[in-house]
Amino acid sequence: MQKRIFCVILAVLVSITAFIPFAEADCTLYASDGRTLTVSDERVEAFKKVGWYETPEEAQLITMYATDGRTISIAAFHREAFEKVGWYNTIEEVTYTMYSEDGRSLRVFKDEGELYRQVGWFYNIEDVSVKMYDADGNEHLVFNANIEEAKKNGLTPYRFEVQQLMFAADGRIIYVPFELAEAYEKVGWYRGGGKLDPTRPMVALTFDDGPGKYTDRVLSCLEKYGVRATFFVQGKNVAGYKNTLKRAVELGCEIGNHTYSHVKLTASSGQTIASQISNTNTAVYNATGVYPKLYRPPYGAYNSSVLSRIAMPAIMWSVDTLDWKTRNAAKTLASVQKSTTDGAIILMHDIHSPTADAVETVVPYLLMQGYQLVTVSELIEARQGSIVNGRVYNKVKPVY
Ligand code: NI
Repeated sequence: MQKRIFCVILAVLVSITAFIPFAEADCTLYASDGRTLTVSDERVEAFKKVGWYETPEEAQLITMYATDGRTISIAAFHREAFEKVGWYNTIEEVTYTMYSEDGRSLRVFKDEGELYRQVGWFYNIEDVSVKMYDADGNEHLVFNANIEEAKKNGLTPYRFEVQQLMFAADGRIIYVPFELAEAYEKVGWYRGGGKLDPTRPMVALTFDDGPGKYTDRVLSCLEKYGVRATFFVQGKNVAGYKNTLKRAVELGCEIGNHTYSHVKLTASSGQTIASQISNTNTAVYNATGVYPKLYRPPYGAYNSSVLSRIAMPAIMWSVDTLDWKTRNAAKTLASVQKSTTDGAIILMHDIHSPTADAVETVVPYLLMQGYQLVTVSELIEARQGSIVNGRVYNKVKPVY
């Protein structure tokens, strides 16, 4: 009987020990260098702490990147932890493409971008190139260094010079071949700016006393309709708005001289007149690379002495909108509607917000009336061939 009990106990023990390998299944672990290892389940956690992984994917080495150019090779298992402390999965995420004016491009690490910027590289391709248009109106991206050559090849930065800009009263704008402009006019479209046609009516919008904080709004409206204007600036305002003036010149606008600090020239000494004019010319040249060819005396005050002292023509006006007084966009438009005729020089002031509002309606109104909006110099040259220094212009009538 005792022997039998012993046999039962032995059988139970044997079956228990036989069972243990089933409960304690082996587990295969993977190292990043390709080794594998089989360990019992209970030892897996310990092995994971010393660089073993449960799947080949987790063990696989990946490269991660930092913005300062460092790279690191880690098991894929740690990817998320590294992402949380500033590492990236692709080199694209830690670099910029930067551009030079001559059209070269370069990938640099983000931490070095500022250094490259300081030595003449740019973050955006738009900063080193412009859109230019061929005779068919097709768009070309031209690097700044190649602009002059592109111009020689017939490209222009102004699409309205190679195609007719047309607009609808509801604000839509399209470009069409010049020969189709008339057909579009018959179905309710109006001409925006385009090639200057000396046989069609034209007027010159002029803005005094700036540049100021509303000048860019005026420019955006002019740009939208492909038209130009003349800005008679005070020299003392130029330094604060260099980019604005540069933009005006780039849009084909003209910059005139309105003295350095708005002095009454008829009450100034010869020396003051000379410095007020020349300091403004220098300021405009430094900002835009172009010297003013015209001046407008502040308060419209001139006499024969003033005219003889300044080697430029004095530009007055034929339409005084009184925008500086009314500060009312509707009244400014009404004044233009009432008084404008072919060859008019229209006086406004871009230092007032309501004037910038008025331009939004004045420009399309004049275009709808069939006027071309040109600079003062373009107006005089188109009508009289040349501009005469010392002469006073207040409107430039058609000669035909
Ligand atoms: Ni003024």
